[in-house]
Amino acid sequence: MKILVIGNGGREHAIAWKLAQSPLVKKVYVAPGNAGTYREPKVENIPISALAFEALADFVKSQQIDFTVVGPEAPLVAGIKDYFQAKNLLCLGPSADAAKLEGSKVFSKEFMQRHGIPTAKAQVFTDISAAEAYLKTCDFPIVIKANGLASGKGVVIAQDRLTAEHTVGEMLSEKRFGDAGEKIIIEDFLEGQEVSFIVLCDGPHYIPLATSQDHKARDDGDLGPNTGGMGAYSPAWMVDEALQAKILATVIEPTLKGMAQEGNTFQGFLYAGLMISPNEDIHVLEYNCRFGDPETQPILLRLKSDFAQLCWDALHNNLHQHNVQWDPQFALGVVLASVGYPDNPRVGDVCPTLNNIPPSNTYKIFHAGTKIEESRIVVNGGRVLCVTALGDTLNDAQENAYRMVKKVAWDGVFYRSDIGHKALNK
Ligand code: AMP
Ligand code: GLY
Repeated sequence: MKILVIGNGGREHAIAWKLAQSPLVKKVYVAPGNAGTYREPKVENIPISALAFEALADFVKSQQIDFTVVGPEAPLVAGIKDYFQAKNLLCLGPSADAAKLEGSKVFSKEFMQRHGIPTAKAQVFTDISAAEAYLKTCDFPIVIKANGLASGKGVVIAQDRLTAEHTVGEMLSEKRFGDAGEKIIIEDFLEGQEVSFIVLCDGPHYIPLATSQDHKARDDGDLGPNTGGMGAYSPAWMVDEALQAKILATVIEPTLKGMAQEGNTFQGFLYAGLMISPNEDIHVLEYNCRFGDPETQPILLRLKSDFAQLCWDALHNNLHQHNVQWDPQFALGVVLASVGYPDNPRVGDVCPTLNNIPPSNTYKIFHAGTKIEESRIVVNGGRVLCVTALGDTLNDAQENAYRMVKKVAWDGVFYRSDIGHKALNK
């Protein structure tokens, strides 16, 4: 089999690495990829951007690639699945209409309201004075979200009315997020533990993947601004069998059924970002129409089944035949970010030690914002690496990950030193 993976982050490195391990797979192409995918056996980078649909489809046809896996949300929301389907090319990911679950927070909120899926109480605004009038009636903190895609930056938790009014002004009047902020949602603040619950869907069937917990805040102790995610571990400590059954019954199944009923059958990775309250009430914070980043890295490190076969079967409505196998060990990934992330990361630094790290069954260094320049590995984005390790206990996985983090760290890098803390201090 030949497979194309679209994207250039840590998630795509993990996807390409795992696909390449399959004996069914001859070659994995990554468009455009990073320094990690460049160095991976059986994997080749292709300099085509994730949004250049025509060039991607031409490449797939000319190389007789069997199927494509789409990593990031932007091409999915822009309709890559529909484009490929019209050319009879197999592409794992939802259609543009189904990807609206992530592409429009207003769509997903109204969808959840229509189908009785538990989520925070919310109101939609396009008009600044209406939003300000509403804020006068709210308790704080309150959560303000731009409607469209904003690379994880479009959500602000405002602790007081002044901050809330300022944020609403930035989004609606100053157009800080452009079109993505033309509509906003103001929603109640929820407390509890966040869980990333991801399923792979083929249309009629789905398979829950291993659970995980992300660390969205930039700094230790969950402080500082929201980021795309500073580290994740799997499995998430609070999701036992009973809670998983409740998540499937109250969130996943009504979501997939509701989407199908509305003519938007979902195929691909569906990510529900959940808030679990202390008495195990579940609320959906967000949907993503793709695998999580950095959740993919620890999840795929634990996957024992053939990932290429799994993706192939997801494309052929055959997931019901699978009993997916997971490594019983814990996996934990720490994101190494470049100074200035998330607002203004520094690029161009050389990562000097990465060439000297031997391969291992205990850890894997996934690349994200890296590129090769004159045979050196150079920082090319905010989240640079995700150092991911296994362990018999979460503590062991954490120790194994941080031992490697210290070996590969360079000047100009920062990382959280407490990934996994919610599980370890529970
Ligand atoms: P979202 O992109 O909607 O998941 O929001 C990003 C992050 O903001 C989430 O991962 C949560 O940490 C936080 N968040 C979003 N909505 C809420 C909410 N209603 N209550 C508390 N925190 C929230
Ligand atoms: N780690 C959160 C996300 O992938 O959106």
